[in-house]
Amino acid sequence: MTDSRALPDAAPHGIDLAALPRDFQWGTATSAYQIEGAVAEDGRGPSIWDTFSRTPGAIANGDSGDTACDHYHRWPEDVAVMKGLGANAYRLSVAWPRVFPGGDGPANGKGLDFYDRLIDGLLAAGIAPSVTLYHWDLPQALQDRGGWPERATAEHFAAYAGVVAERLGDRVTQWATLNEPLCSAWIGHLEGVMAPGWKDLTAAVRASYHLLLGHGLATQAVRAAAPGARIGIVNNLSTVAPATDSEADLAAARRMDGHVNRWWLDPVHGRGFPADMLEVYGVELPERPGDLAAIGAPLDWTGLNYYFPQIVTADPDGPAPFARMIDRPGVPRTGMDWEVDAGGLETLIMRLTEEYGARSIHITENGSSYPDTVAPDGSVHDPERAAYLTAHLAACARAARRGAPLAGYYAWSLLDNFEWAYGYDKRFGLVHVDYATQRRTVKSSGHRYAEVVAAHRAL
Ligand code: IFM
Repeated sequence: MTDSRALPDAAPHGIDLAALPRDFQWGTATSAYQIEGAVAEDGRGPSIWDTFSRTPGAIANGDSGDTACDHYHRWPEDVAVMKGLGANAYRLSVAWPRVFPGGDGPANGKGLDFYDRLIDGLLAAGIAPSVTLYHWDLPQALQDRGGWPERATAEHFAAYAGVVAERLGDRVTQWATLNEPLCSAWIGHLEGVMAPGWKDLTAAVRASYHLLLGHGLATQAVRAAAPGARIGIVNNLSTVAPATDSEADLAAARRMDGHVNRWWLDPVHGRGFPADMLEVYGVELPERPGDLAAIGAPLDWTGLNYYFPQIVTADPDGPAPFARMIDRPGVPRTGMDWEVDAGGLETLIMRLTEEYGARSIHITENGSSYPDTVAPDGSVHDPERAAYLTAHLAACARAARRGAPLAGYYAWSLLDNFEWAYGYDKRFGLVHVDYATQRRTVKSSGHRYAEVVAAHRAL
């Protein structure tokens, strides 16, 4: 008779861990501007976020990434924290303005040296790096020359990507070109809430095009510099449902799906830009022969960032896509006021699998912000974040059980950090950061994550 007490729990907290592959990547994610600080150190040039965070009223409390989590100096401690969680992967981004302070021109050796040390430190800790080349910190010098609405920015991005891949490609195999180009294009150029803070549909559509072109050109550059590289792109997707079954809301949901999902997925899967959305935007694309083939070159993996579903209604007087999200009463929401719907993650993983034929899917971000409090004993108890994490991991496992090629999950975020226009008000970390002392404290959600990772490993 076997002693059942000795058997590992295959479904802790209802997560069907046996559905996940043995070599599943259990990671956490961050981005350069949100954690590094040291914005004027070792030759780093200014980025559009340095500029934007100095724009009066742009960021809550006038916060900036000047110091952030001081990860630039404290990375060894942060790698040790990851190791303590049992993570075997880490998603970081490289700051373009550290490598090319002026956007192009001569590379800054000291900037590359930082990532060199970090990658070595990760590997020594048994943690595989997954490197994102662009997480929104465009060198200000390129913004001054027109930024993403200009084609040259995509070409400079490819040159930068090639230099980074040449330096790190002997140790890094997993690369993402862009993080959430939707935010750069739509939130940065159409809604004006993120850098560079524009509200201009034509500029936004041109930016979206050149971001995706940059993805395609950077893919070629990374493949040329590091032949073993596995390259993907990271999109933030949402499930979209109409608020009512009226014709107007059904059409609005279709447009919103085009705006947040299909505009980003179709071109990189070789399908070109969705015709219905071209009509909605009414902006001519700055397309040249060969662009669509570059943008649509097959991906090695697909990155999915998921946070919330969108329930939408028609908004004929609003900006494109003439649809807006509504707040449903009585539905649980995070501290960002985002609806919680773990089932949406399963739906999107299956959509990437079935509709887009994704070869390998990584949940490159997923997480929640809640207001945390530090107990008198120094601990941080965050049951809502732990519940969000657990429910979304269970959704991942369900999708894997249904046959999705799910290869990894990266919790957003390792650390509390600079949450863009919300500054430091919103905390997403599995690890609490006391910004006055830079003390790191693993929250109970972090302990939950470690427990799940250990349970998977024990199967
Ligand atoms: O903090 C961001 C991250 O930079 C991109 N994805 C969403 C996160 C939470 O808003």
